[in-house]
Amino acid sequence: MEIVICESTEEAARRAARAVVDALAVRPQAVLALPTGNTPRPVYAELVRLHAAGGVSFARATVFNLDEYLGLPAGHPASFRRFLSEALLQHVDLPAQRAHAPSATEANLDVAAAAYERAIAEAEGIDLALLGIGRNGHIAFNEPGAPFDSRTRVVTLSDATRAANQPAFGAEPVPKQAITVGIATLLEARRCVLLATGAAKAEAVAQAFEGVVSEQVPASALRGHPNLLAVLDRAAASRLTRSPG
Ligand code: GLP
Repeated sequence: MEIVICESTEEAARRAARAVVDALAVRPQAVLALPTGNTPRPVYAELVRLHAAGGVSFARATVFNLDEYLGLPAGHPASFRRFLSEALLQHVDLPAQRAHAPSATEANLDVAAAAYERAIAEAEGIDLALLGIGRNGHIAFNEPGAPFDSRTRVVTLSDATRAANQPAFGAEPVPKQAITVGIATLLEARRCVLLATGAAKAEAVAQAFEGVVSEQVPASALRGHPNLLAVLDRAAASRLTRSPG
């Protein structure tokens, strides 16, 4: 596990973007699993900037969204598919047929979840999973209690997560359920990069990297990953006691 503590949020975002660029440099056909949320926004802005400057191409890459709310109509402003499209995909050269998102509107969601897992396997697995972290330690939508051997499936969101994500919904209620890749799916990625910025994430980061490895702290599962990079800004790292910097 490598923990990099950056002086600023912007520097942390640039460092995480560099991890994506490096993955594509080593393997232009890299399979990326990408998160939504406020944290990765500046990462995507940096990738868009680098792409416009000729510094990175997604032409041969494949992208899997990590998760999606259940039941949102296509194009809903809070949909994660729409988020990733607007933040990154429509500004880079990734072919549309290689941009995957969990299907969250199908009648049989278990079948859709199994199909998503199969699509990842058919793409020969994830080369790089970029992850954020929830204030309760969740990764993707794997909430506290999620089994470490979980796969893509339907999950029930915690009240805390629904409250944290309320701003994207305005006055509308946040869906109670989502479809998410599982923790086992993420642990099989050849590289995981967790990005956390801001003081609101400091406790979750400390629990994940210095607390007990437990299904109550989903991000703590990453400590069992052989190739994990955690990119933090000073605020997110402020409750770590043992890490460098
Ligand atoms: C969301 C997503 C996660 C994300 C987390 C943190 O609910 N499912 O993938 O890491 O919340 O989001 P933010 O970066 O906005 O704090």
